[in-house]
Amino acid sequence: MVKSATPPTTVTRKPSKVEGLKEQSNFLCEPVATELLQDTTHFSEDAVQILKFHGSYQQDNRDNRTKGQEKDYQMMLRTRSPGGLIPSQLYLTLDKLADEYGNHTLRATTRQGFQLHGILKKNLKSTIAAIVKNMGSTLGACGDLNRNVMAPPAPFVNRAEYQYAWEYANNIADLLTPQTGAYYEIWLDGEKAISSEESPEVKAARQKNGTGTTFHDSPEPIYGKLYMPRKFKISVTVPGDNSIDLYTQDLTLVVMTNFKGELKGFNVFAGGGLGRTHGKEETFARAADPICYVDKADVYQLVKAIVATQRDYGDRTDRRHARLKYLINEWGVDKFRTKVEEYFGKSLEPSKYLAKKFKYQDFLGWNEQGDGKLFLGLSIDNGRVKDEGKFQLKTALREIVEKFNLPMRVTPHQNVLLCDILPENKQEIIAILNRCGIVSDPTKIDSLERLSMACPALPTCGLAITESERIIPSFLQRIRTLLKKVGLPKTSFVTRMTGCPNGCARPYMAELGLVGSAPESYQVWLGGCPNQTRLARPYTEKMHADDLETFLEPIFVLYKQQRKKEESFGNFCDRIGFDAIREFSDNYQA
Ligand code: HEM
Ligand code: SF4
Repeated sequence: MVKSATPPTTVTRKPSKVEGLKEQSNFLCEPVATELLQDTTHFSEDAVQILKFHGSYQQDNRDNRTKGQEKDYQMMLRTRSPGGLIPSQLYLTLDKLADEYGNHTLRATTRQGFQLHGILKKNLKSTIAAIVKNMGSTLGACGDLNRNVMAPPAPFVNRAEYQYAWEYANNIADLLTPQTGAYYEIWLDGEKAISSEESPEVKAARQKNGTGTTFHDSPEPIYGKLYMPRKFKISVTVPGDNSIDLYTQDLTLVVMTNFKGELKGFNVFAGGGLGRTHGKEETFARAADPICYVDKADVYQLVKAIVATQRDYGDRTDRRHARLKYLINEWGVDKFRTKVEEYFGKSLEPSKYLAKKFKYQDFLGWNEQGDGKLFLGLSIDNGRVKDEGKFQLKTALREIVEKFNLPMRVTPHQNVLLCDILPENKQEIIAILNRCGIVSDPTKIDSLERLSMACPALPTCGLAITESERIIPSFLQRIRTLLKKVGLPKTSFVTRMTGCPNGCARPYMAELGLVGSAPESYQVWLGGCPNQTRLARPYTEKMHADDLETFLEPIFVLYKQQRKKEESFGNFCDRIGFDAIREFSDNYQA
């Protein structure tokens, strides 16, 4: 028999400072509301922690730092867009806001949202209000709660399993949206302009209790006044589609249908997460474990049970140790399951067999949606939508979205898919892209670039140790030159770079992961795989940017000599092992 959940009572260590700030915030209101009214360039450190829950990070332009002078403060704003869906009205609004208040660029993120950078504090309210009034939201895009729910971006409208993935991604996003009125009071003077009503099923699921998942007398029935111990990341996908990097999420649901294509339930994975800290072995990247199968009728209660387990048992004393991955790692999957069962109120069923292997696809180029319409996947270098000289991507997207009223899906690889294109408009769209200097044929893009990602890092991210987005293009060119030199001109692999070990571009799943570890130096991770189903491992702690070629050349030569037919670079590194690579590199003479 399953015992009911009783939240833990003994707290032996002091909760971290952010826990106190959440508690005092009056459900995410203060000190943001008060400080917003003050004529200042920036928020206090305490307010910044609460501001995150509203979808904004306070940053400063690090290129403009001058000793003795105030920082060039500005805000980053991030949308909450389940499954990456951006209606045309929202896209056009974001495009305008980037020019009116931002740094004239938009950035498609690895979590399927858009970021605006460079917004001054005094313009934050107008910017958020415009987003909400135009079918968007930023609520919960950052902070200690459920973040943007990811789902496969490909708009295969005639494939039932994709429809289910989007439906449940939306519903779970709604289920776990903060219920506090603070967001609307602060940014919209109390006006609640939501684009679509949540389903009654979701509303009922939020309130349903009996097993300790819900606080009945709280404005936040699921979160309570302390919200989550740390960020919580969910994705919903279909068998075989790993475009959402399922092993990196706190919780992933995989749609399970019967032979008629009807939804039966979900396979559940939990405990993935990437953020870590250099030199602290107690922090690590972790791939999610399979946990159970859940019938569709019980899925919201199971999501709540897992959220409640992390809410009540996640470590609130140390933010570096607060993600669900650490809890599962310390408890083991069996104990985690038992605890989840207590909140769930019944036993968990074992996972079902998944016949299809998970694969990564980017859906770039022209594709059929399945309803007679087309979609176009455009590769965007590191997600940065901008106009620069003859490269007029921002203009092109605005023109196309406006003229043809197209919705867009942001992919988890910082690209966009333009959806619902009538075949008769294809040529005109190609003409606009050509005029704006945009390559729409993915075969014309170097696959190294196509498969790569980098986080924003400098100059906006306060945590960056090294360059990332700004330097990866030159790294990729140097890698291509080197591959040609060693006789592998056509070889490509997944390269991901971040400016610090937090891992925002998921470098620990890459075949070549570069993680800023000291000024101009990167920790190198090898051995991930093309479909992102296995974690890479750290090969070296510091590789100076200048040493890229000398470092990689022996590894590429060994790969060329000893790879099996069609073996990818990451699979090769994993198979042959780091000792063999080191030995070869040590004895290598160019
Ligand atoms: C663990 C500590 C982490 C911290 C403190 C952190 C902080 C930040 C900050 C400050 C930014 C804004 C950078 C900018 O736009 O200038 C950012 C961006 C982002 N982070 Fe993180 N992050 C962490 C981990 C992660 C992880 C593990 C992921 C996903 C695997 C992630 C996903 C993102 C995404 C999607 C963006 C948007 C930019 C992009 O797509 O490259 N973050 N993060
Ligand atoms: S990985 Fe680090 S440097 Fe890059 S955006 Fe995330 S926090 Fe900033």
